Amino acid sequence: MIPPRFLCLALPLLFAALTTARGQDVEAKVEEILSKLTLEEKLGQLRLVDGHAGGGWKPQHRYLAQQGLLGGTFNVRGTGPTGEMQRAALATRHKIPLVFAFDVVHGYRTIFPVPLGEAASWDLELAEKCAAVAAKEARSANVSWTFAPMADIARDPRWGRIVEGAGEDTVLTSAFTAARVRGFQGNNIAAPDRMLSCLKHFAGSGAAEGGRDYNIAEVSVRSLRETHFPPFLAGLAAGAGSIMPTFSAIDGVPATSNPWLLQDVLRKEWGFNGVVVTDYDAVGQLANHRVAATYPAAGLLALQSGITIEMWGSCMVEAESMMKTPANLKLVDEAVRNVLRMKFKLGLFDKPFGDPAREKAALLNPDHLKLTREAASKACVLLKNEGNTLPIPASAKKIAIVGPLADDRTSLIGSWSGDGRPEDAVTLVDAVRDRLGASGTVIHESAGNASGFSFSRPSDGVEAAKDADFVLVVIGETADMSGEAASKSSLDLPPLQLDLVQKVHALGKPYAVVLMTGRPLTVGWLAETCPAILLTWFGGTMGGPGIADVLFGDVNPSGKLPVTFPRSVGQIPLTYNLTPTSRPYRADDKWTSKYTDISSSPLWAFGHGLSYTDFEISQPMSSQLRFPIDGKVTFKVSVKNTGSRDGDEIVQAYIRDDVASITRPNKELKAFKRVSVPAGKSVMVDFEIPAKDLGFWTPKGEYVVEPGSFTLMVGDSSESVQSARFYLE
Ligand code: NOJ
Repeated sequence: MIPPRFLCLALPLLFAALTTARGQDVEAKVEEILSKLTLEEKLGQLRLVDGHAGGGWKPQHRYLAQQGLLGGTFNVRGTGPTGEMQRAALATRHKIPLVFAFDVVHGYRTIFPVPLGEAASWDLELAEKCAAVAAKEARSANVSWTFAPMADIARDPRWGRIVEGAGEDTVLTSAFTAARVRGFQGNNIAAPDRMLSCLKHFAGSGAAEGGRDYNIAEVSVRSLRETHFPPFLAGLAAGAGSIMPTFSAIDGVPATSNPWLLQDVLRKEWGFNGVVVTDYDAVGQLANHRVAATYPAAGLLALQSGITIEMWGSCMVEAESMMKTPANLKLVDEAVRNVLRMKFKLGLFDKPFGDPAREKAALLNPDHLKLTREAASKACVLLKNEGNTLPIPASAKKIAIVGPLADDRTSLIGSWSGDGRPEDAVTLVDAVRDRLGASGTVIHESAGNASGFSFSRPSDGVEAAKDADFVLVVIGETADMSGEAASKSSLDLPPLQLDLVQKVHALGKPYAVVLMTGRPLTVGWLAETCPAILLTWFGGTMGGPGIADVLFGDVNPSGKLPVTFPRSVGQIPLTYNLTPTSRPYRADDKWTSKYTDISSSPLWAFGHGLSYTDFEISQPMSSQLRFPIDGKVTFKVSVKNTGSRDGDEIVQAYIRDDVASITRPNKELKAFKRVSVPAGKSVMVDFEIPAKDLGFWTPKGEYVVEPGSFTLMVGDSSESVQSARFYLE
């Protein structure tokens, strides 16, 4: 991780690109357009309105475009509908193109595993490739701006939006955020296969109290800087050109009207000069927060706080009469400049339309389907595998697939599934049928309705299972049970699913649970009793084949949990990187920090994930015990594959600052590497952690790296590590 302080130096360089020769040209054009716009037209550029969910435009918005009073739309997509809107905008006197935005979160038409699942791959190259494909498809459909990636740290699985990010850890989330931005944007967002990314939801959205969506977040500035800001900084350092404030109020001030966040931190401290777009109707909702009495007052407040573009609403437009003071006009001009620069950078003035032939070739292109199949396999986390139950033995010719999610196309593509269509998705039932062909039999019973919180006839599945050599029980949550506005107070399996597994278990046949979910679930009974559990999240368009590749052993699972699975909701918040407390937990001492009615450990720890082979990771080795505080900590480990299959291991390096001026976590992930190790072979893995990454933010708002003793812990999960000590001096 790069400490935020160091990024401040880097950001202005990135954004200085506009002052180059071409940049001066753009600046001159921006000024020329700006000088001709009326205030009404300027405010129109700051307006982004919503189309239909299906991708069409609304007549009233087309009318605005015809009047030159609209900056862009979101949800309107495809060369057809965007072309109609664009023609309307270009027929106006200033000919300013519209920008078309959309939530391209984990794919446009070809859908990749949900972001939390993709993060379970710990594979940054994969994340970049998936985002690049998403951008290619979206741009071909004339969508050039995505509201992604979500850079929020999520430590409360009750919060449904945990599915949209990279989990609980700051270093992992920062790395994934940057990789996704690189994938969306490439080196040039004007390229026909790239798009502008938007980091959201700035900041602390995942800290919503009680995991309740839209709720306030009681986070200290220290915790914002240490935990929640770094993924945004990493995304900005990777070039993200836009950012979206959270709906939440931070320390009492809604992010949409928070000048400290949007100006002091974002623009002045970090040097950001891109576009700040609000969340959906967030300006109008300042009235719900009761920090503005009227919509126009909210519009003015938002502009003055640092908003560039209002999504959905028209409060800023309605505030026109209040915008006429010199100070407010200056703010309007600056916001319009940023919008026009964005449109120039996207190349929209040169290429405002999509190309239907390109669109046809890009969507669901076979290469894209191949990549999403690979991603679906890499997202799988083998949580348990007693007696090598998995992979499914070749001798199993009659396979029963039961459970409400086995053939659920809608859930497979997950929430925020862009223009993904359930009918494109290939389910596990399809995939196993296809794989076995005439050589075997697949018995599938739908076991009820998967769309709600329960299903009706669990016994159907049991009947099917009775006749099989091997049973796959596909259970979990449907996709609509996580995502936005899908907070839950219970993380138990939906009713009757446990009943189904228990009945299958009682048959005494070999079976495995395939767990589909967008969040950690409290599945203690499964963990204790079932022989094998494969966590697949929602695997995307080719989820079925990708999961089947793992179940049948063509792909050796390598995923690791990017988030802790608690035993009970009562343990939340529960993360791997807790601080020690005055009385650190001890099982044999009542007077220590714990609950009396439940174990203090998680059900499955952050970083956990098994393989079909076994790895031995050595103790960390280094030629040095002492490292300069302005240098790098270097060490290596050997990773030996002691099993009989080739496999990938994700080596995780954690550190602990042994004694510091403030209390520090017991363990913090600082680096990780994915390595392929052939069966019976060993591989040396080198690590290099800049000493500046071992610091922390003080309560006074300073970033410090303190000399002294550190413990280095390296292993295959946050709970299974080997340690060594080193000193910074
Ligand atoms: C609301 C969500 O909070 C945000 O993430 C999304 O980008 C917008 N709606 C637009 O769909």
